[in-house]
Order: sequence, then C-alpha cells, then structure tokens
Amino acid sequence: MWPDRRLVELFGIEHPILLAPMAGFGTVELAAAVANAGGLGSIGCGTMNPQVAAEAIARLRRLTGKSINVNFFCHDPAKADADRERAWHDRLVGYYRELGIAHEQRHVDLAPFGDAMCEVVEDAKPEVVSFHFGLPHPALLARVKRAGSKVVSSATTVEEASWLEARGVDAVIAQGYEAGGHRGTFLDWSRNGATASQIGTLALVPQIADVVRVPVIAAGGIADGRGVAAAFALGAAGAQIGTGFLLCPEAATPALHRDAVRHAREHETVVTNVFTGRPARAFVNRLAREIGLLADAAPDFPLPMGELAPLRAAAEQEGRHDFTPLWSGQAAALSREMPAGRLMQVTVKETLERLRRLRCK
Ligand SMILES: Cc1cc2nc3c(=O)[nH]c(=O)nc-3n(C[C@H](O)[C@H](O)[C@H](O)COP(=O)(O)O)c2cc1C
Repeated sequence: MWPDRRLVELFGIEHPILLAPMAGFGTVELAAAVANAGGLGSIGCGTMNPQVAAEAIARLRRLTGKSINVNFFCHDPAKADADRERAWHDRLVGYYRELGIAHEQRHVDLAPFGDAMCEVVEDAKPEVVSFHFGLPHPALLARVKRAGSKVVSSATTVEEASWLEARGVDAVIAQGYEAGGHRGTFLDWSRNGATASQIGTLALVPQIADVVRVPVIAAGGIADGRGVAAAFALGAAGAQIGTGFLLCPEAATPALHRDAVRHAREHETVVTNVFTGRPARAFVNRLAREIGLLADAAPDFPLPMGELAPLRAAAEQEGRHDFTPLWSGQAAALSREMPAGRLMQVTVKETLERLRRLRCK
C-alpha cells in the first residue's frame, strides 16, 4: 500500500510516519499512541539525565510492544565565556528591572550523549536511536549499533546528509527550514553559526535523496496527508511530524503554547537563537523582536536558558509569553486537536487517498 516500504521494513513499523522526538513536549503516552497506531513513536531524551531516560523508556515499553525511537542531542559542550555572558546579562538587565525581579544567575547546561546514556541504550535496546546536532563519538556510535538499534540523524544540507551516511546511519532525516524546534545543523553550524543552512523541505529532500542511498525521511512543515504524500513525491521514504502533534491531549504542551498553536497563522514563526544559543523555530515574541532574531551576542547552547528562566517564569505568571520559546514549525495552523492514535489514523488515510488521486491514468 505504501509507495516506498524501506522505512516500514527498517524500523519494523506499519506506516512510514514518525512522531518527531520533542524533548519536554512529547510524552511516553504520546509516543505509545503513535506506535500503537502503526507509526514510529519517539521520545526526546535530550534534556533528561540517564536515570530519567531509563525510566521513560521502561514506561514506554510497558505502554507499547511496538518499535520505539529514543532521541538524544550530540552538541559540543558549551564553552564558558565570561565576557560574552556578562554582555548577554547586560542586554537582559532592563527586563529584570521592568518585571521587578532580582537577577539570578541560574546555570543551565545539557550534557551531550555520553557514556552513561549509552549504557541506558545498551540495556533498553530501542529499535531506533535518533540524534540531533550530528552524531556522538564513533566509539559511542559503534556501541549503539552493537546494541542492535537502527541509527538516524537530521541533516539540513546535502553535505550533512553525506557525512551522516559515510558514518553509517541507517536513514537520514532531511530537516527543512520550515521545521519547528531546533535546527539539527552541525557542519554548517560550525562554519556559519546562527545563519547556517536555511533550505526549505521542498528543495532539500530531493537534493538529499539524489546523493544518499539510505532512506530519506522528510521533516519540516508536514502536518497532514497532503504533506506526507508530497514527501514521497520528493523522493523521501516517509515523513517525520512534530508540530502537528503538539495539540494532542497526550502532548505535554503547556497552556500558553497550546493557545499559540491553536490560533497560529502561517507567518508567525521565525528561526532565532535568542532562547538557547542555537537557531530554532518558534513563534516570534517580544524577546526575539527586541534582541534581533539571530544575535551574535547569545552565549553557547544552552546557556541563554539560565539567564532567561526567571524572566520567563515572571512573565508567564502574568499570562505573557514575552520570554518563552514557543517552538513551532511553519505549518502550525494545520495542527489538529485530537488523540494521537486518531491523528495517526486520519493522516494515514488522507495520505493514501491523496496518493491515489495523484496517480495519473
Ligand atoms: C516542540 C518541538 C520540540 C522538538 N524537540 C526535538 C528534540 O528533542 N529532538 C529532535 O531531534 N528534534 C526535535 N524537534 C524537531 C523535530 O525533530 C522535527 O525536525 C520537526 O518537528 C519537524 O518539523 P514540524 O515541526 O514542522 O513537523 C522538535 C520540534 C518541536 C516542534
């Protein structure tokens, strides 16, 4: 029934549709609902410590007997730079004053995928392990593969896709500029920083499909059967959807964020590095407008989150999202409010109908 069965066979799933891992937003319930409906259920463990990740995977295993995808970040650890952090603080100090809160230097850091997390993977043996921001050290990658997991990572350029294939990934996610959340850019990021790789899904997927032999998964701006059908037409073997699942009751999307997605219009998201230090797509808000979308002054990922946390909390108490990263892709207005299993069924049906209608006689 599917025009390309490579992902169905590779991951042991029924439908070549992946729930995007969304650290902090996707829950095990969301992943289980997608997996039980025949797609690939994913959990984003990029912000968890190894013990929390192990517990999340165990809970997910209890909710589904189907294949699962567990996702990690492999960014370079943040480099402390006191001058830059002081300059960033000076840029934000007016907001602290305005909100009447004392400045608090909260240190937020995220460890990239390392030895302890790799042990969690070796114990749990998820069918699929996906990475964002490149790949881990070759020795860690070899251990993940020895555990039997298929390995996937995001590319935002053709060069990144070839680099991933040369290092042995089983499939490449072609993440277009429409995508919500962090850009997975890694090679182009070290070269061009915040302005790296701005290629849309429509242009990126066929160019990547032309050069890699492994299956390509299209991501970015896909939220219904029309988008999934288009992914096949572009040469992808399936699609990954993130923003389209943010309104599902199983998602942990906070109320302010849900409201923004519910009332989204197509022009309201931007790519900015002001929230975390790396470019990511979110609804434009006061911070992004006033600091500038791509600020050279932003400290290394994920340090800006520490300085912003008290501002964010204070503004949220007043019902404002002036400092909150409301991650979202460009197709937010296509997101539907229904249980994730039902959303999967509807999306599969729409895709197959669309593919049938497109078949020229
Ligand atoms: C709220 C949110 C959180 C995300 N978190 C992650 C993550 O933890 N790991 C990851 O690999 N990708 C993450 N992404 C990016 C997705 O993997 C994917 O590229 C993106 O959702 C696709 O575009 P779409 O949002 O238009 O569907 C996130 C996306 C969103 C919207």
